[in-house]
Amino acid sequence: MTRLPRALGLLTRTGGWIYDRAGLAPLHRFLVEHRIPREVGRSRKGWFYVFGQALAFVFVAQLVTGSALAMKYIPSPGHAWESLQFINTEVLWGGFVRALHYFGASAMVVLVFVHMARVFLTGSYKFPRELNWITGVALLFLTLAMAFTGQLLRWDHDGVATVEVAATMLGRFPLVGPHLMDLVLAGDTMGGATLSRFFALHVIVFPLLIMGLMGVHIYLVVRNGISEPPRAGVPVDRATYRSWYQRHKAESGSLFWPYQAWREFAFIGLVYAVIFGLAFAYGPKGPGLVPDPAMVEVVPRPDWYFLWYYALIWYKPPALDALVLVWLPVLVFPLLVLLPLLFSGGERAPSRRPWAVFAVGTAFLLWATLTAFGLRAHWIPDFETEPVPEALLSDAPEDARLGAALFHERGCQYCHVAMGRGGIYGPDLTDSPLRLSREEIAVRIVMGIGNMPAYQEILGPGELEAILAYIHWAAEHGVRQQGSDP
Ligand code: HEC
Repeated sequence: MTRLPRALGLLTRTGGWIYDRAGLAPLHRFLVEHRIPREVGRSRKGWFYVFGQALAFVFVAQLVTGSALAMKYIPSPGHAWESLQFINTEVLWGGFVRALHYFGASAMVVLVFVHMARVFLTGSYKFPRELNWITGVALLFLTLAMAFTGQLLRWDHDGVATVEVAATMLGRFPLVGPHLMDLVLAGDTMGGATLSRFFALHVIVFPLLIMGLMGVHIYLVVRNGISEPPRAGVPVDRATYRSWYQRHKAESGSLFWPYQAWREFAFIGLVYAVIFGLAFAYGPKGPGLVPDPAMVEVVPRPDWYFLWYYALIWYKPPALDALVLVWLPVLVFPLLVLLPLLFSGGERAPSRRPWAVFAVGTAFLLWATLTAFGLRAHWIPDFETEPVPEALLSDAPEDARLGAALFHERGCQYCHVAMGRGGIYGPDLTDSPLRLSREEIAVRIVMGIGNMPAYQEILGPGELEAILAYIHWAAEHGVRQQGSDP
């Protein structure tokens, strides 16, 4: 019975010894014992101030799960996909750790935007906290860069195709485009060099940058103090703000620990619980289909955080190419950096800044709408597709005509284009006969491949032959039409 207290005693004494010899007292006073405005520490408004610390703690969790994964992952195109499959099925808790890492990443993306929206809406980026915001913007982009590079490490069709689309986009930038593309792909095309580069960025370069910047960010937050909740009609006064804030904290402030700290730790506990719950319920993400150069036609489905942007690329009218692909990404970063410098004074309360509220609301609605579009149209089968009109089939042989009808009836056309109509969930079959032999096509239909269902049980006698006849006739027909164009 006395063993436990004795062990605890030893632990406390060891902790005390390190605290003393390493001289941790000033750091402890700085990070833990500082005072914060009473309206945060002793009020329910404190709940609005918990997102930043949660980000730091989820990041630490990502370092732990990420390090574990890096022990088993093989960053080479020939092995990456298999090594993830191996982690999923053979390694003890491997699939669960992958799931934790994926949902942890999702949590970071959500939290980073929530945190940013809160700071923006309460005007906390204004004097004297401009630099807090600017380091925060860098952290936002690094977080997204982690999400983006991590997606390629999965080395499945969606991950590879997503980066391919992004690289092609970068290639369109005026002047520097080809160089940027070269920088991302580490060569002319996607391959082993690309994967090595993304691996190095994802496990070394970006995490180190995040750690450094997060340290600076936290230092600035504590040094400049947590912003007091805004009051309408009290604009920031640069001449008097600092002295007022210090006096305000000294006279009526509350201690960060434990008054605000317990809220932050309660929220972190909640975030961890959600990540665990999702990882447990849904398991690891992918790896999906093996990347296949023959499938470049299929639109990639990037991870949810980038889906909105791919939907935008997909739906924008061609006239807006330059705006969406070049100017939007190029302008967002400097605009965010300049924001606190341009608006460092003035009112902080959201009730006095309708444009700020409008901007956040619009951004959220745009994101939600585009994500909904991305989830729905074109990425999934098109169930509305109409049969090919008789007129187009007038000179087709009997079996190809039967095949055309079956192609629609049996649902091939939900996912495939032939004769210029159909869904684009699967590849356009117009040129499949150029790439694949008749047997290879037949095998894919009968056995299924990737997301393509097997039709062995579904097709009746002679139906496979009819469909094959149609696919080949449609391919020839398309080619003949193109060839006879003036
Ligand atoms: C639910 C959507 C879906 C349906 C329904 C579907 N396919 Fe597919 N099909 C796909 C996808 C996705 C692929 C690509 C899979 C891969 O390569 O991993 C594919 C691949 C193919 C290929 C290989 C094409 C190539 O160029 O590599 C052929 C041929 C094909 N399907 C024919 C058919 C036929 C015929 C039918 C109906 C009997 C059909 N599919 C029904 C989704 C579908």
